[in-house]
Amino acid sequence: MRARAESIVVLTGAGISAESGIKTFRAADGLWENHPIDDVATPEGFERNPQLVYEFYNQRRQQLLSDHVKPNSAHSYLAKFEHEFPGKFLLVTQNVDNLHERAGSENLVHMHGELLKMHCLNSQLIFDIAEDFNFDTECRCCRSPGNLRPHIVWFGEMPLQMNKINQALESCDVFVAIGTSGNVYPASGFYQTAKIRRAHTVELNPESTSSGFDEHIAGNASEIVPKYFETLLPVY
Ligand code: APR
Repeated sequence: MRARAESIVVLTGAGISAESGIKTFRAADGLWENHPIDDVATPEGFERNPQLVYEFYNQRRQQLLSDHVKPNSAHSYLAKFEHEFPGKFLLVTQNVDNLHERAGSENLVHMHGELLKMHCLNSQLIFDIAEDFNFDTECRCCRSPGNLRPHIVWFGEMPLQMNKINQALESCDVFVAIGTSGNVYPASGFYQTAKIRRAHTVELNPESTSSGFDEHIAGNASEIVPKYFETLLPVY
């Protein structure tokens, strides 16, 4: 392990929010909250049955805004770390929840979109949304219904802010993946990009998902994130 990190990129997945009450995607049944992923997370699924897709994300949004779902100590420690770490820090999340920002994270990229946003299919403008919306909802820019979709990157679509992410990966000296199964490209290849500049690569996850990381630390995010990140802070 390098003594002093100067630039760190962290990738988070559904596992970091599991202890906050949001289910991960790839449970043994292969369903996402009782739905086949093809039905609710692909452009084709949206074309086939938009009402189902609107309802699905409306439910996820209401769940996220319920009193039961709160940032856990892994989200909180990452936010504290970002403010104390003297070097460069970028947090990239695949999660569409807002638990990182609620915990105080600032330099954050939501590469798969956000549940609390919708976008207009005509103008591509993005709007905040906390309420339910559907095919009948009038768009704030077009003033007509039928143009709005959840601001979620579905399978087959291009993740967001890839230039910023790749630049950070190519110049970081530590890359940490937390609570992600490594099943979805391009996030699954981030540790390889980070290795171009010989970054030290670490996985924090109850199970090891790849032998390509230099280090695997097993455990639940709420316990191992604070412990591990404390070791990356300089000692004065
Ligand atoms: N702490 C840390 N990791 C955990 C915990 C926990 N308490 N509980 C589960 N995990 C790990 C699991 O071992 C698994 O490796 O979290 C991972 C969750 O994997 P997935 O459900 O596949 O989630 P993720 O990798 O984020 O999925 C990637 O796939 O469906 C798409 O766009 C969606 O962003 C999502 C992407």
